[in-house]
Amino acid sequence: MLKLGVMVSGRGSNLGAIMKNISEGKLDAIVEVVISNKRDAQALRRVEEWNARADDDKKIETFTVERSSFADKDSFEENIASIMEEKRVDLIVLAGYMSVLGSKFTARFGARIINIHPSLLPSFPGLHAQKQALTYGVKISGCTVHFVDETLDGGAIISQVAVPVLDGDTESVLSERILKEEHRLLPETIQKLATNQIRFG
Ligand code: GAR
Repeated sequence: MLKLGVMVSGRGSNLGAIMKNISEGKLDAIVEVVISNKRDAQALRRVEEWNARADDDKKIETFTVERSSFADKDSFEENIASIMEEKRVDLIVLAGYMSVLGSKFTARFGARIINIHPSLLPSFPGLHAQKQALTYGVKISGCTVHFVDETLDGGAIISQVAVPVLDGDTESVLSERILKEEHRLLPETIQKLATNQIRFG
């Protein structure tokens, strides 16, 4: 049973997919803690809704840790790292966490951090990956789960799914098509790590 620490910044639909797979018994993991770097992240409301329905032992603890509350990036990430260590998480999952982690943080957890990104990396790292794909004119995009290093959407690739880019696609239509695959790929990849079908690092 993998203990997950999930980091979010926004909507939290990938976090939702993880929680759903756990509740359906498809993922041998528990979400030990969710840390948001945005106070108003919808992901936090999603956890509140989950907690309102969950038995006491299934409730998920959340923390908001904002960069603006700290003098520098290192001390901000040190705070997140100490929560993850205190909760003894086995795996940190970046599920729409929209900030690049520094090398102190990534070195501390080694290959125990993964990220999901809405493109076939190494193409289109960074913000608005789906828009970048449309602008470039690629006919196939997709999503990637990868181990995390200190570079933007960088680190060894673990799993990918290809998604077609169709004539007339808008950013939101393509994003939705990719997101459906993200919601499958991320829990599936975590399950493979949980069951040693994929090795850490
Ligand atoms: C997802 O599409 C995820 O792949 C992307 O942000 C979205 C978060 O959605 N992440 C990145 O672009 C990381 N560089 P969610 O908050 O609904 O899971």
